This record gives sequence, structure tokens and C-alpha cells, in this order.
Amino acid sequence: MADSISALIDAALKARANAVARFSGFAVGAALQAGGGAVHSGCNVENASYGLSMCAERVALFKAVSEGAREFRRIAIVSQSEKPATPCGACRQLLWEFCGDIEVVLSNLDGATETIQLATLVPRPFDASFL
Ligand code: THU
Repeated sequence: MADSISALIDAALKARANAVARFSGFAVGAALQAGGGAVHSGCNVENASYGLSMCAERVALFKAVSEGAREFRRIAIVSQSEKPATPCGACRQLLWEFCGDIEVVLSNLDGATETIQLATLVPRPFDASFL
């Protein structure tokens, strides 16, 4: 299992190399592992309107969902900050709705890694159970 976590971090690191982060300078890579083991990766993609920029996690999620994935195990997210960065609120919401309580592996380029359950990052979520 540790091996598949480090492979997932590597996939996120590789995706990060494709980040378009010319406005913030903050490059992020994400790799989402589906139930069958397939890995779907993404990077953040910024543009001049700023507000239409997209986070790495949602790129990875939408790629996965658009390819038919519906069950997920974990996501690795790599960026560079002193403490490994956590996903933004919008990504937390969508990851919760599509993936449920998956493991979230946060890493920085110095090798600091932390694993946290998504439910810890999304207390009392709004989701389809209310509809
Ligand atoms: N960003 C991500 O891609 N994922 C995160 O978890 C946090 C923030 C992106 C959005 C924007 O392109 C840049 O990082 C700075 O906020």
C-alpha cells in the first residue's frame, strides 16, 4: 500500500510539471486513484480572467468522471509550501460528492507528507443525501 501511495505522489508531481500557474506562481499537481486502481491526474490551469482558473484536484476529478470512473480510493496533491497545502473549499465539496470519504495525501517538494481523511476536511457536508 505504501508503494501505491508513493506512486500516486509521483503521478501528482509529474502532473504538477504541466501546471499553468503564471499568475499565482503556485503550481499544483493532483493524482486521483479510482477503485480499480487507475490513476487520473491533473494540474491547475490559470488564465487571464483569474476567476475561470481551475484547480488541479477538479481537473483530475473531472477527467476521471468523464472517463467513466465512479469509485475512488485516494487523491495525492503536491504543491510547494512550508506545510503541504490542503484543497480549497470548492474542491473539497466536489471530491466529497463524487468520492466520499477518501484518503487525501498532501505533499510538498521537500518530501513532507500528511494523510488525512476527506471527512475531516469537510465536516457536515452538504450532499445529495439532503435532496
Ligand atoms: N490551487 C489548486 O490547484 N489546488 C489547491 O488545492 C489549492 C489552489 C490552485 C488554484 C490557483 O491556480 C493556485 O493554486 C493559487 O491559488
